[in-house]
Amino acid sequence: MCGIVGYIGTQTAKEILLAGLERLEYRGYDSAGIATVVDGKIHSIRSKGKLHKLREKAEKELILSKAGIGHTRWATHGKPEEHNAHPHMDNNNRIAVVQNGIIENYQNLKEKLSSKGYQFLSETDTEVIPNLIADLLPSPNSDTDLIYPSPLFKAVLESIKLLDGAFAMAIISSDYPDELMVVRQQAPIVLGFGQGEFFCASDVTALVPYTSTVLSLENGEIARLTPLGVEIYDFSGHRLKKIPHLLDWNPMSVEKQGFRHYMLKEIYEQPSVVRNCLEKYINKDWNPNKNLNCNPINLNLSPELYENLEQINILACGTSWHASLVGRYLLEKLANIPTRVQYASEFRYAPSPITANTLTIGVTQSGETADTLAALETEKQRRKDTNSIYKSRLIGITNRPETTLATIVDQIIDTQAGIEIGVAATKTFLAQLMAFYFLAIDLGYRRQTLSGGEIQLIIDGFRQLPEKIEEILKTQERRIQELAHNYLEAKDFIFVGRGINFPIALEGALKLKEISYIHAEGYPAGELKHGPIALLDSKVTVVSIAMAGKVYDKAISNAQEAKARDAHLIGVVSTNDTNATLTFDDLLPIPEVDELLSPMLTVIPLQILSYHIAAKRGLDVDQPRNLAKSVTVE
Ligand code: M6R
Repeated sequence: MCGIVGYIGTQTAKEILLAGLERLEYRGYDSAGIATVVDGKIHSIRSKGKLHKLREKAEKELILSKAGIGHTRWATHGKPEEHNAHPHMDNNNRIAVVQNGIIENYQNLKEKLSSKGYQFLSETDTEVIPNLIADLLPSPNSDTDLIYPSPLFKAVLESIKLLDGAFAMAIISSDYPDELMVVRQQAPIVLGFGQGEFFCASDVTALVPYTSTVLSLENGEIARLTPLGVEIYDFSGHRLKKIPHLLDWNPMSVEKQGFRHYMLKEIYEQPSVVRNCLEKYINKDWNPNKNLNCNPINLNLSPELYENLEQINILACGTSWHASLVGRYLLEKLANIPTRVQYASEFRYAPSPITANTLTIGVTQSGETADTLAALETEKQRRKDTNSIYKSRLIGITNRPETTLATIVDQIIDTQAGIEIGVAATKTFLAQLMAFYFLAIDLGYRRQTLSGGEIQLIIDGFRQLPEKIEEILKTQERRIQELAHNYLEAKDFIFVGRGINFPIALEGALKLKEISYIHAEGYPAGELKHGPIALLDSKVTVVSIAMAGKVYDKAISNAQEAKARDAHLIGVVSTNDTNATLTFDDLLPIPEVDELLSPMLTVIPLQILSYHIAAKRGLDVDQPRNLAKSVTVE
């Protein structure tokens, strides 16, 4: 949540800060602001609402400062109003701070500062920070303490030791205009290295146009950026040696490339995501008839992770949790391994009993979801120092292998989806599903629960998927766009599916509600009659996933039960299902596919339907209200 950006160098900071914030807007967008040092004073511009409001204000001013900080906010403490927008300043306007996270002891600090005469103008937790720093900052003419690189550094360091919580922040001071301080404690922040210019940002997306040399700060680190370079220290003030790395990102990956919204672009990227995954993880030497010692899947996971494996435990939130439910189905069915899926946000405070020889998998597209990271840390911690059968074995499934997730788990499965900017996850969901298929096949091969022939059949099916997705996009997107007209005023949707498609019903409902604000629920189709059926009448739309396979007849019966209660019925069905019109009022047809692989296709028309309903309702599809792409607070 919240996006931070900072710049110090040779160019005018204003435009770099605004452009950086625009690339971070997916992290929060209820208010925004920038601060620079002008004529020895902090100059700040803040605005309620989306970033274009801030830009409109900022463009009226000529600000030549070559250093500054910026913030786009997702409110935690205090309503989204201008006075709560960052940057926050101390009472004398000497220090400006932007922060992402939560300062848990801010009330206590506020009381202490108030008793010293400090006044507070916002309801935020952040406002204590500039005042704390100001309180500890000597006047510019006092003697310098030579242990530290600068008085500002010292004051920041001493202040952050007083803070409880998870945070990342950037700080400037009018007394020290050639310094930009950057701090990380449990919230992401990355540094960028240019030629005589240096950056910080909550995510590399903001840095991509300027530099590909980056370094993620780790927890408990503080960086001092000046026009001459970057120094990194730990919270004890010891200088650290750190080496930046090169990012191999194409700046175009963060552009809309002609699409109206990132979400639509990302839906259209799905065939190539599947191709990339197949290319990366299917072993080219695999041949079930020739070489039985060659593993079909090449995930490159270390053998200790598989040894005597008895159980898998998956931790995730939101859409990643839905992907994990499909993962459980696959791992249990293909590899016969008991698998549990838990909400990461629940796990930390109510962990399941510790079990022996367990592989824990954290699934997160952003790699920064605070709930998921905290759950993984909890799991790691409670297994530390236990008997070896209880030792933690952790892997992460993500499309952002450079994020904090990688610092917690033993290994990462990179889903090859690249960055996703639309708040509604689409291509990353499909890529997470792929990772689970591959893990399940890998384990099925190792545990000999799958024969070579069975594996080959699945792989053959997979190879046809990119074209089948393309076919849906080509033949159905326009049709679904027209269909969406009929649902603009809808109030309630119920999505139902059975077996491997039950999680797709949940995902279909989540997509619709998060971007169109239409109430939607997902249920296992067989559960309708146990309660939700009472909701049905002619005003409710039921979307039923009824793909050929062993649950088809049951799915049709459940759809008929809904029809008998006058519900309007949409069916996600195979193109060759000639009977579908007998049951459903509208169809979302997809190419024929084996039931086991069907989630890879059934989700696509549901993404498209949600997208078009939301777009036609005139909503901000990529930045739906109250949400943020990267949920870095618990
Ligand atoms: O980055 P993560 O996958 O950990 O995010 C988890 C959820 O916040 C995320 O999936 C959320 O539900 C999306 N907005 C779904 O589209």
